Amino acid sequence: MAKFIPVEPFDIVIFGGTGDLSRRKLLPALYHRWVDGQIPETSRIIGTARTEMSTRAYRAMAQEACESASGKNWDSDAWKSFENLIEYVSIDATDEKADWPTLKSKLSGEAKRPCVFYLATSPRLYVGISEALGRVGLATEQARVVLEKPIGTDLESAREINDGVGAVFAERQVFRIDHYLGKETVQNLLVLRFANMLFEPLWSRNYVDHVQITVAEDLGLEGRADYYDKSGALRDMVQNHMLQLLCLTAMEPPNHLDDDDIRTEKIKVLNALAPISGEAARRLTVRGQYKARVRGDEPVKGYVDELSGGSKSTTETFVAIKASVDNWRWAGVPFYLRTGKRLPIRHSDIVIQFKPTPHSLFGEGNDAVNRLVIRLQPDEGVRLYVQIKEPGPGGLRVKSLPLNLSYAESFTVRYPDAYERLLMDVVRGNLSLFMRRDEVEAAWTWVDGLIDAWDQSGDAPDLYTAGSNGPLAAAMMMDRDGREWFEGT
Ligand code: BG6
Repeated sequence: MAKFIPVEPFDIVIFGGTGDLSRRKLLPALYHRWVDGQIPETSRIIGTARTEMSTRAYRAMAQEACESASGKNWDSDAWKSFENLIEYVSIDATDEKADWPTLKSKLSGEAKRPCVFYLATSPRLYVGISEALGRVGLATEQARVVLEKPIGTDLESAREINDGVGAVFAERQVFRIDHYLGKETVQNLLVLRFANMLFEPLWSRNYVDHVQITVAEDLGLEGRADYYDKSGALRDMVQNHMLQLLCLTAMEPPNHLDDDDIRTEKIKVLNALAPISGEAARRLTVRGQYKARVRGDEPVKGYVDELSGGSKSTTETFVAIKASVDNWRWAGVPFYLRTGKRLPIRHSDIVIQFKPTPHSLFGEGNDAVNRLVIRLQPDEGVRLYVQIKEPGPGGLRVKSLPLNLSYAESFTVRYPDAYERLLMDVVRGNLSLFMRRDEVEAAWTWVDGLIDAWDQSGDAPDLYTAGSNGPLAAAMMMDRDGREWFEGT
């Protein structure tokens, strides 16, 4: 049975309540917290969107969404009680004259309980909605506002959002979400590093040869062409998820798990990232875009074919970066980051490759294989590759095999989705897994430098066939350093 800490009664208002994120993630996350008994029954969930819709119709939509997200964990009895928490108010957040009074009247009477405003809308609306909440008196001391990524498209637009939202809400009320931080295995990174004595002495340039962080997806655009084509892999994945993983891997031990201690350590890593600009971008980065796979049983469309109007887009769907964290612990240790769509399989790994032994007793090629693989998804676990003797006579033959810790074999509880944990943290007011303003801005500062370098170069992304491992240039980037990508096997 999963353990959880109950939260106090709360209200949550979801802007973009009929959208994809609400249906796939937010409503199912709340439903599962209800099934586990974490949500008190006087809590309220208010969906809002532009569409005119009755509460009854909204509940039906939510039921379908929760049922489809739950699969075999669906509990129809639990749903019957859960749906009583849900209401719907139609609000056009872009319209000054929208029906804010109805929303306000629904929320009145419980002024002392936490009230979460979840902005699952386009970032263009974040400031406008925050201002409206301020105007109608809903930005109270108890209010919390949740901002989905992307916070802007560059440093300047991120600052505008942070300033606009910050004019209404204090920083302690602003929860900038990066759902990777709510993933069980990402949190396990903290435990693995800081609750074990084993790794910390080795976790530095003295013993680590390099680090690889890969978030590979087999899917393509999934109907998000409008958003994705303006964003690309760098803004969509690197600026947030990948840099957060890098921070958790590279940061110093925080003093406590408090809100600001972890975030302060993460921002030190972001500030230590060596800028990549000018010509160096050609050496240290690879951009790719998938093209159609025409051969084989299942042809796959290319990226531009998924866009409407046969566009000639140069948006990258793959990026590989050789980054450096210029500080005492990591000087000289490359951090290779790689993410892309339409790669062969979905896998996310952090690989810590240790240095070879200083003296080789067992022959060439047998001394560079201590490797810690933290598998974030899909088959979550930790594997520590060690060298062992292959059984049998005939000399000492050495083989590299993993000590294998599989989450599925070790724990039988249902894996909560990242949003379940994060939503309950918002209600509790626990900011440690959310990004602080300066963190988002530091990440954009580094990413903006890269975008400038790419723009100046005028280079188009290298094409790679859908279902392949990405552009050849990514393999060559590693090859030049005498290294290889870990392909998740
Ligand atoms: C989102 C990106 O933030 O993360 C998507 O916008 C990406 O493009 C997704 O597919 C990946 O998340 P996960 O949890 O499936 O690894």
